[in-house]
Amino acid sequence: MGQSVDELLKELTLEEKCSLLSGETFNDSQSVPRLGIEKMLMTDGPHGLRKQSDKPDHLGMNVSVPATCFPPACALGSSWNREIVYKMGEALASECRAENVAVILGPGNNIKRSPLCGRNFEYFSEDPYLASNLAAQHIKGVQSKGVGASLKHFAVNNQETKRLTLNATVDERTLREIYLTSFETAVKEGKPWTVMCAYNRLNGEFGSENKYLLNDILREEWGYDGLVVTDWGAANDRVKGLIAGQDLEMPSSGTVNDSKVEAAVKDGSLPVEYVDRAVRRLLELREKLHAAGEAEPVSYEKNHRIAEEIAEECIVLLKNEDKVLPLKAEDKVVVIGEFAEKPRFQGGGSSHINTTFLNKPLEELKKLGNVEYVKGFACAAEECDANLLAEAVEAASRADKVVICAGLPEVYETEGMDREHLNIPGAQIRLIEEVAKHNKNIIVVLSNGAPVVMPFEPQAKAIVEGYLLGQAGAEALAKVLYGKTNPSGKLAETFPQRLEDTPCFLNFPGEGYHVEYREGIFVGYRYYDTCKVKPLFCFGHGLSYTNFSYEEITVDRESMTDQEKATVRVKVKNTGAVAGKEVVELYIHDCQTDIVRPYKELKGFQKLSLEPGEEKEAVFELDKRSFAYYDVEAKDFLVQSGRFEILVGASSEDIRLKAAIEVTSTAIVKKHFYRNSTFGEIYYYEPTREIAREMMDYFERESGIDFSLGDRPADFAFRVICDFPLKTLVTFTKGRFSEQQLTELLEKLNGVSHE
Ligand code: BGC
Repeated sequence: MGQSVDELLKELTLEEKCSLLSGETFNDSQSVPRLGIEKMLMTDGPHGLRKQSDKPDHLGMNVSVPATCFPPACALGSSWNREIVYKMGEALASECRAENVAVILGPGNNIKRSPLCGRNFEYFSEDPYLASNLAAQHIKGVQSKGVGASLKHFAVNNQETKRLTLNATVDERTLREIYLTSFETAVKEGKPWTVMCAYNRLNGEFGSENKYLLNDILREEWGYDGLVVTDWGAANDRVKGLIAGQDLEMPSSGTVNDSKVEAAVKDGSLPVEYVDRAVRRLLELREKLHAAGEAEPVSYEKNHRIAEEIAEECIVLLKNEDKVLPLKAEDKVVVIGEFAEKPRFQGGGSSHINTTFLNKPLEELKKLGNVEYVKGFACAAEECDANLLAEAVEAASRADKVVICAGLPEVYETEGMDREHLNIPGAQIRLIEEVAKHNKNIIVVLSNGAPVVMPFEPQAKAIVEGYLLGQAGAEALAKVLYGKTNPSGKLAETFPQRLEDTPCFLNFPGEGYHVEYREGIFVGYRYYDTCKVKPLFCFGHGLSYTNFSYEEITVDRESMTDQEKATVRVKVKNTGAVAGKEVVELYIHDCQTDIVRPYKELKGFQKLSLEPGEEKEAVFELDKRSFAYYDVEAKDFLVQSGRFEILVGASSEDIRLKAAIEVTSTAIVKKHFYRNSTFGEIYYYEPTREIAREMMDYFERESGIDFSLGDRPADFAFRVICDFPLKTLVTFTKGRFSEQQLTELLEKLNGVSHE
């Protein structure tokens, strides 16, 4: 072991320290050979190693060393399986160690605000609880093998349009409950060695110099002590960034920004402590790498098998009428669609992997059954080719079942661009329609990184959402279609009926360089569920070849304070004939109505593996955050005291069991009252309720308003008075209640004990 961080900090000159603040090359941090400080290699990520030997770029254009392409996050999110995400992290790290990679840039954990975001294939979910829990496992898996992860893109990087400079306006509650919660568990539990800031601005400040995000929340509230790296090229005002908590600028900007920092230290406008702080974090990252120990030899064959095992857990069976699936070995099957020969298994851009092995779905299907292939359409064709169509119709009319491999061509979804619609290419739609006239057993298998609309849904007996499954996706798909593997994926995002139904439809991608998140907290199922807008396939949906019965729910207590915890146990039984895995989903519904909240929110999930006839228990722990909303005035997550329903089921629409619990808040929120505070505000605040009663009686008697007129409900006077501001005590009594008395009343109200 060489010198300690403190010793190195003492020996480094100011110039050397400033040079460490940005990269040496496109992917390497700076070295200081004089002191034995080596450069550290940071490469993409997130679902495979993208180490470019020459001419690196961040748009995925130049070729990289062969590496295993695991399923991207769009598929991984549908696994709802913490263990396999961890396992993927370990396997990723083994390949990083073999290539001397210090940090692999991922996971990407931005919320899928709109299905149009061109980079949704790299993100887990529309739900922050699910996303954050899976991202934490990804990080832990990678780092358990001595490689750093980089949680990205912090924060509110939810579109590609104008991503480098866009300003997103997001209200505080939405930010906290949705967009920051998706990072919070990943940071607190995953403890990533690095966090990558986002390109865009949030409420006017760039991600790279946003003190609120980088210092106040990430470091002070969440206790993060790792390194913050810029997204590639995200630095704006480097000095301001350093003060805000941005440590390392990537890639190299030559000496442009380092010299600005050095000059600022020399002219006294930047205290050197800010430079030291950032350099310390870089040196601490280096120490973590040194502590990693010997790397195990990497096996690409083994990693391919792991990629397959993961892919099998990610496939979502959306529809399966008349049990048309699984295919039987003796079924005469015709496979149509170029995706069967040219699989789409990853997205485009900085995460593009040069695979070690790659099989074709067609070949894998042929290994398991009686399969004939006709092309039918080219992946990106908008117009139908008459000859290909005729051939497909003819083959379909001779077959027992038709498997149509459809989906989005790569040009449709890539980093740097958003989609403009949710359609798959026209030729595919037309072909499905025509073929369905000649064969009733249509099975559509989709390859896409984000939701598509499905005008063909009524004609398809089965729909399999294959997402992008990584390099071993072909084997996994074939096994699921032939029932060698029972599908167990569930949607981590809502599939809408129409683009116009999406909650941010009117505000995506914004105007000019500005977008407003006007849908607020109502993202994904939080909107569809609350506003009763029927989606095509709901959040959490996914079928199996077996049946699961939800037998019993028990909660270990009837009531709790928000400082306590409750344990929920749910018994689930496999009542079918084959083994399978079931994701048990737990949602919380707040029965109070004071605060505008989504109808329900996901607060727990567990994947159970069950043999036929077997019963197992899913156990969930609920705590304050399971019930809380973010209170902007109190600047904290708070619980509204009262009754909450615990809803457990197989999807967000398919709730099978319910229980209830009373939760009492212990938070002391000091309220302040003003002339324009209402009687209602002081009445509904426990410590001032008695004073409120007295003043409301006085107001009813003395205001000169006749509240008894007409056919009013019994509590009419009370409800109306609640809305009057306290200043009307003076005006409506024509001064009998004096200004002086009002001042004294406010003093009394503001002086009460808040305990
Ligand atoms: C992307 C990052 C990526 C980086 C380095 C950027 O354009 O937004 O996700 O890690 O390039 O390739």
